[in-house]
Amino acid sequence: MKLDDLTVYAQGRFMRYADAKVGLLTHGLQYGTGCFEGVRGFWDDAERELYILHPRDHYVRLHASAKILMMQLEQSPDELVEITVELCTRNRFEREIYIRPFVYKSDEAIGVRLHDVGDAFAIVALPFDSYFGAAAGLRACVSSWRRIDDTAAPARAKVTGIYINSALAKSDALLNGFDEAILLSHDGHVSEGSAENFFMVKDGALVTPDATQNILEGVTRRCVMTIARDLGIPLVERAIDRSELYTASEAFFTGSAAGVMPIESIDRRPVGDGRIGKTTKAIADVYERAVRGKEAKYRDWVTPVYRRASLAPHRRSA
Ligand SMILES: Cc1ncc(COP(=O)(O)O)c(C=O)c1O
Repeated sequence: MKLDDLTVYAQGRFMRYADAKVGLLTHGLQYGTGCFEGVRGFWDDAERELYILHPRDHYVRLHASAKILMMQLEQSPDELVEITVELCTRNRFEREIYIRPFVYKSDEAIGVRLHDVGDAFAIVALPFDSYFGAAAGLRACVSSWRRIDDTAAPARAKVTGIYINSALAKSDALLNGFDEAILLSHDGHVSEGSAENFFMVKDGALVTPDATQNILEGVTRRCVMTIARDLGIPLVERAIDRSELYTASEAFFTGSAAGVMPIESIDRRPVGDGRIGKTTKAIADVYERAVRGKEAKYRDWVTPVYRRASLAPHRRSA
């Protein structure tokens, strides 16, 4: 599928990707004044159904990010879910997808600020395979780049401009032969990956940095915490020191794009025995089923696109 042929949502209606243009001086492009979400859709071939994972939670977070950036989202999270369902239906996706809703300062003008600048909203949904390719486990390194501190920019918001921090760390990791970076916060504690939250297993408990460690509070992080609690795995949210990474028995990243992704080594030291541990596997197995609507307990995590679209009394027209 060519990008130009995708149907996207922009300027309050559905249109071809090729027709949805932004100008060179767009504020969001020049100053990084935008915020976005990354939502996954999973295809179930047997049921011929596309399941969108936690779309409402993503739109709630988008509303929060937009508020921090002094932007207005016209539609409520529930209305945005409906638009997303319709967008997927119009694209007739029959495979795994990634959905990218974003709000950006759309005025074409010079002048860096947040207030008194117009904004715009758009959604692009596109076919998407695995974020880390075929890797079964990742070689991670601790980055020399520190995670953005909330006193400098809102770490809790998914802001486009802040992703320069992730890009610096990610490129450094890749160019040095690793698969992913782990960023420390300014006080030297583990924060997260370049686009994922971090978990490790220590003394039988699942440990993850708490919300004050400049993390993005991930939707997948919350899913994993729920699964762990339901599996009876003790869970601790606390500050993690760098040297603890070297003695963890298991470690993994979580993210909408990455899913539950095992970490094989950190700074060239194998995590545990370097193989995927049983806690990671147990959580990843439940997660993989849940995202395709196969776990009765977590059925409300997913929104079925085609079933829902056929039930709708009427559809918005382009
Ligand atoms: C910086 C950062 N941290 C964490 C995450 C994981 O968040 P989620 O599970 O909501 O995708 C992401 C991905 O969105 C991210 O970009």
